[in-house]
Amino acid sequence: MTRVAILISGSGSNMISLCNSMLTERFATPVLVLSDRKVAKGLSSARKLGVKTRCIEYKDFHDDHGGFEKSLLNELISVKADLICLAGFLRILSSSFINNFPKKIINIHPSLLPKYKGLNTHSRAIFSGDFEAGCTVHEVTPELDDGPILGQARLPIEPNDTKEILAKKVLKLEHLLYPIVLRRFVS
Ligand code: GRF
Repeated sequence: MTRVAILISGSGSNMISLCNSMLTERFATPVLVLSDRKVAKGLSSARKLGVKTRCIEYKDFHDDHGGFEKSLLNELISVKADLICLAGFLRILSSSFINNFPKKIINIHPSLLPKYKGLNTHSRAIFSGDFEAGCTVHEVTPELDDGPILGQARLPIEPNDTKEILAKKVLKLEHLLYPIVLRRFVS
């Protein structure tokens, strides 16, 4: 069974959705939820689900990104992770880190890639007058939000949608898309 580690920085709602699907459908095993921030709400949610958690506080490394990634790598090796899911993980991983897990790191991004890489995706979609928005699961490569697309889900942008409303709608869609893509990816 594929051993999955999930990296988070915040609320971890996508992580919860991934863990729930793995724990109920048993197509993979969530072996670790790891955060780069002690305050990440998702850590306690993962513990409630019975999934092992770890925190490697980025701030403690005083901008030594290499040192941070070395600790991250050690944790992932210690749980024998086969696959890494980024779920709201706010650190950009270096190419040397990514090369440790070729085609084994995936991410969810709140836009219809290749549109709106990076931040503020929802306000950019509204500002551009787009008729639809959505989310994308993709393989992680050294280029930001640029790896091969594994799955997308879309919804219409309504005239009254603010960036906050759209973010909520897209997040709900993310919770549906990510487990489906993960399941397909591991099979
Ligand atoms: C999601 O919108 C995800 O697409 C983006 O960060 C957000 C994380 O939300 N990468 P959560 O922590 O899963 O609730």
